[in-house]
Amino acid sequence: MAIPIPTRQLFIDGEWREPIKGKRIPIINPSTEQTIGDIPAATAEDVDIAVEAARKAFFRNGGKDWSSATGAHRAKYLRAIAAKITERKPELAKLEAIDCGKPLEEAAWDIDDVAGCFEYFADVAENMDSKQVTPISVPMEAFKCHVVKEPLGVVGLITPWNYPLLMATWKVAPALASGCTAILKPSEMASITCLELANVCKDIGLPPGVLNILTGLGPEAGAPLASHPHVDKIAFTGSSATGSKIMTAAAQLVKPVTLELGGKSPIVVFEDVDLDKAAEWTLFGCFWTNGQICSATSRLLIHESIAPAFVEKLVKWCENIKISDPLEEGCRLGPVVSSGQYDKVMKFISTAKEEGATILHGGARPQHLEKGFFIQPTIITDVTTSMQIWKEEVFGPVLCVKTFSTEEEAVELANDTQYGLGAAVLSQDLARCERMTKAFQVGIVWVNCSQPCFCQAPWGGKKRSGFGRDLGEWGLDNYLNVKQVTTYVSNDAWGWYTAPSKM
Ligand code: NAI
Ligand code: MG
Repeated sequence: MAIPIPTRQLFIDGEWREPIKGKRIPIINPSTEQTIGDIPAATAEDVDIAVEAARKAFFRNGGKDWSSATGAHRAKYLRAIAAKITERKPELAKLEAIDCGKPLEEAAWDIDDVAGCFEYFADVAENMDSKQVTPISVPMEAFKCHVVKEPLGVVGLITPWNYPLLMATWKVAPALASGCTAILKPSEMASITCLELANVCKDIGLPPGVLNILTGLGPEAGAPLASHPHVDKIAFTGSSATGSKIMTAAAQLVKPVTLELGGKSPIVVFEDVDLDKAAEWTLFGCFWTNGQICSATSRLLIHESIAPAFVEKLVKWCENIKISDPLEEGCRLGPVVSSGQYDKVMKFISTAKEEGATILHGGARPQHLEKGFFIQPTIITDVTTSMQIWKEEVFGPVLCVKTFSTEEEAVELANDTQYGLGAAVLSQDLARCERMTKAFQVGIVWVNCSQPCFCQAPWGGKKRSGFGRDLGEWGLDNYLNVKQVTTYVSNDAWGWYTAPSKM
């Protein structure tokens, strides 16, 4: 199953370039803890060159420039990227699984979603051409008014490691569709597939400078991008702590940002559910992608009348989850991404214990795996609302459980969080689901499921989960400037100075 890890450089102005300082970062396979390659580490000097390349690609005049071309022209490139990604799916899925530890079958879904997202934004780009001018009716006949949406400029895209290529695509595809040019800074924990995206762009002949991909560390490559005076916008997905730093840097230049940050999302399970179906969504909602999902429904709120039977079922099913190297067939839980993440998750578990919670299942390394950053699926009960495990995002396979007795109590507990990304409700009573949907203070609600996501629908949160939306037409709006154009159409002089009596 061994697969060679390509050695790549930074992708700037359509060319591979050695980072100016020549630094590289090792790639560590989280399943084996072995170093399997390295990625280039960009610094501020490389960021400057990439930003200038992106500006040149954006502002070049005449002919078929990126920002002034038709959406249909740009769509052709997006479709070519999608086709190439589909062609390379088996290899890309393996690289993704090796790099971030997610089960191969999940990684394969991701690659399908990546291609689907490029295709979707190709459609959106094509449709833009007919929607570019919106007439506005104004109450003075002497004026005509219309609105145009135009690409915002050079955008910086900073993305995390849990869905390395997919999170990058959620930003790259709409940015390119809109006519922006971009600099992508993927996470240093998992950059392999984003560097392959660079290779795909080279293969399909994407014009130089339209998309530049700089791998590197957050403070060395991400921070200079966030504070760069020639970057017109930053779109970020990652932790709330880093999101706050990016917003601070951007604030100095009044640079717009969209932030898709962490979460501590609830899943509310009422007494009328089918226990098997509800148990599966509960486990999937928290343990999918090894629990490293911003929208993971990691707080289970379960009606007290079914709590003992339901929790017993969860524990039994956890025992059957296949934990293994992500490339092994049937793997359902791989390692967390890094040793740092392993330590962080384990510390959450030990703190929960110290604070008086019960580790009902898991909480340790699986006995059959000596190497790798593996953590058992973990279920924690006897949780109070003052505990860290209730309040903070773990970003690992850890579910905490609390019971409720009334719908009002369920709402109160669900919203008892600084975050506001997602929430799920499971019940056969659809009127109740609708009431819960209204009451959740979040950006995404799942009814009788958890986590499904479609690139046609908006994605994002409120409160400390950030603001702005990826995907759908909302995702495109992130990268567009709304320009009002007002024209004086009367033949008469305006008259303010020349004929004051007329005014
Ligand atoms: P992070 O939020 O620090 O990293 C996300 C991206 O931001 C990466 O590309 C990183 O290089 C970049 N970055 C870091 N510092 C930066 C800075 N000062 N300026 C500009 N860019 C910067 O996440 P990290 O360190 O990988 O993980 C830390 C914790 O964040 C995790 O343990 C997890 O709890 C959480 N996390 C949450 C995610 C989410 O989607 N909610 C995604 C990834 C991590
Ligand atoms: Mg990695």
